Amino acid sequence: MASLKSLKKQAQEEITKTRDLKELDTIFKKYLGKRGKITQILSKIKNLRKEKRVKVGKEANLLKNFIKQKIETRAKKMRDISASAEETGVIDITIPGKRPLFGHLHPLTQVQKKVEEIFQSLGFSVVEGPEIETEWYNFDALNIPKDHPARDAWNTLWLKDSELLLRTQTSPVQIRYMEKNNPPLRIIAPGRTFRHEATDASHEVNFYQVEGLMIDKKVSAANFRAIIQEFFQRFFSESAEASREGGGKQIKIRIRPSYFPFTEPSFEVDMSCLNCQGKGCSACSQTGWMEMMGAGMVHPNVYKAVGLNPKNWQGFAFGMGLDRLAMMKYKINDIRLFYSGDLRFLQQF
Ligand code: PHE
Repeated sequence: MASLKSLKKQAQEEITKTRDLKELDTIFKKYLGKRGKITQILSKIKNLRKEKRVKVGKEANLLKNFIKQKIETRAKKMRDISASAEETGVIDITIPGKRPLFGHLHPLTQVQKKVEEIFQSLGFSVVEGPEIETEWYNFDALNIPKDHPARDAWNTLWLKDSELLLRTQTSPVQIRYMEKNNPPLRIIAPGRTFRHEATDASHEVNFYQVEGLMIDKKVSAANFRAIIQEFFQRFFSESAEASREGGGKQIKIRIRPSYFPFTEPSFEVDMSCLNCQGKGCSACSQTGWMEMMGAGMVHPNVYKAVGLNPKNWQGFAFGMGLDRLAMMKYKINDIRLFYSGDLRFLQQF
C-alpha cells in the first residue's frame, strides 16, 4: 500500500513535467504498459491473501485509472495549445518546422547558363536581342532579300496586320550588335526563336538558339574550329557518359560544307556521338556523328549591311539549338517535354 502511494506521487510529478506527447507516451508505458509498474503490481495480486488482495486490488485499480486520466488530460492540454497556436499565430518554436517547397531552374535555363559560362571564360560577352523582329534584321541585313529562295528555309510566323515577325533565328542579334559596336568583337546571343512548323519529337514552334560571333582583323576558320572544339569538350565533359569513363574523353568534331546566305563559306559542324563514341548506334543513325550547328565565315554583305568595310574585317558566326544541346546532355528524346510544364519531368533536373 505504501509503495502504491509513492508511485502515485511519482507518476503525478512526472506527468506534470512532460513537454510533449512523446514524453507522455513514455510515462504511459512506464506505469501502464505491458511491463508497467502498475501492470506488474496487478498481475502479482493473485499471490496475496484474500483480504489483502481485495484492498490492494482496489487501490491499484484506482491508481491505474487515476494515472490514465492524468495522462489523458495532459495530452488534451498539449493538443489544445498547439491548435490554438496555429489559430492565434503564436509560434511554438519547439515544434519541428515544415520544409518549404523549393523550385529550381528549368533544364533549358541550366544549359543556357552553362553555355554562357564557358563562352565567357573564352572572352565572349553575352548579349540579347528582341524576340519580335523586323524583316530587315531577321532577313535582309543577313543577305536574305525578299523573294530570295533561302527565305523558305525559315518558316516564319508573321504578326497580324504588321511588318513584324517572330524571329526565326538568333542571327539578327549579330546585326543589332554590330550596328552599335565596332570590331574586334566576341559575343554570344542566347534566346528564344520561333518557326511555323508542325511539332514532333524534334521540332517545336518555339525553341532556343545560341548565336556566336567573333570578328577581328584575321579571325580564321581554324580559330572557329579550336573554339568550338573547346566548347563541346567542356560542355559535355561533365555529362554522365564522359565522367563514367574517366572524365577526359576526347570529343571529336568534323566540319562539312553547307549553305547559309549570311556566311561564306558555310559549314555544318558534327560531333562524335556521345552514345557510341563514334562507333555507330541508333542514336546517330549508325553514322557515329551528331549534327550540332550551322556556322561559317561572315559574308561580305553582312559587313556592308552594318556599314563596315568587308576588306578590313574577318570573322566567323555560328548558331546552335540549346534544346538540342540539352537533349544530348541529358539523353532526352522529345523536345516537347521542355515545354510541357510537367513537374514529373522537371523535378529530375
Ligand atoms: N541562323 C542559322 C539557323 O538558324 C544558324 C547559323 C548561324 C548559321 C550563324 C551560320 C551562322 O539555321
